[in-house]
Amino acid sequence: MKVFRNTALALVLGTAVFALTGCAKEKAASAKPEASSQPAQASSNYVSKDGILLAYFSRRGQNHTDQGIQTLEVGNTERVALKISDRLKQPAYQIQTVKPYTDDFKEMLEVAKKEQAENARPALKEPLPDMKPVKTLVLGYPIWHGTMPMAVFSFLEKVGCDNITIVPFNTHGSSGVARSVDDLRKACPKATVMEGTPIKGTLAASADKEAAEIAQKARP
Ligand SMILES: Cc1cc2nc3c(=O)[nH]c(=O)nc-3n(C[C@H](O)[C@H](O)[C@H](O)COP(=O)(O)O)c2cc1C
Repeated sequence: MKVFRNTALALVLGTAVFALTGCAKEKAASAKPEASSQPAQASSNYVSKDGILLAYFSRRGQNHTDQGIQTLEVGNTERVALKISDRLKQPAYQIQTVKPYTDDFKEMLEVAKKEQAENARPALKEPLPDMKPVKTLVLGYPIWHGTMPMAVFSFLEKVGCDNITIVPFNTHGSSGVARSVDDLRKACPKATVMEGTPIKGTLAASADKEAAEIAQKARP
């Protein structure tokens, strides 16, 4: 396990320098979207009449780009989530931890590694969405050390995911969906979990086609 984690870490660090492209575009397009700065708030407002909830986890702050470590004002996954939100014409619910994560990229790698090793369930800001009316959960997250951030596991356990369809999408440095969709199926054995849609983090700003496809999966 340790070897695997170290390998994953090496993969992130080793591939990030060349794997992440499009930083200049990313920075130029980094105006803060309104919806993203709102705190997590009540719940039923986020579910469409046809039972869709769009929820995502994303981290702002330092990240690898093709120009080295840069501070992103809007997280990569958040960028994609907001595009999907436009398509679905409904707001996106941001999964947020009570304790904010560090902006420092290297420190973040260590924090996330420790959380994963401890199988932690970081506490989340409330209120969480009410899942009663939810039929389809469109769920976005970055890959952290080969899978979903532990906060996403916290979210699924807290709100529940029985008898729904999950449409996963993720951003990443180079590892695609990695183990995340398998882990999602394990975490939600009574849900129908569709194929994931992986988007390279630095291409998030131009992921309109993918956002349209994800929205289409949620509302065919
Ligand atoms: C703690 C941490 C661990 C990461 N682990 C991986 C990984 O295992 N594989 C990968 O391809 N990218 C990895 N990345 C890169 C992120 O998945 C990628 O930058 C993503 O787009 C970040 O999304 P966000 O801005 O929405 O948080 C990692 C990034 C962080 C901060």
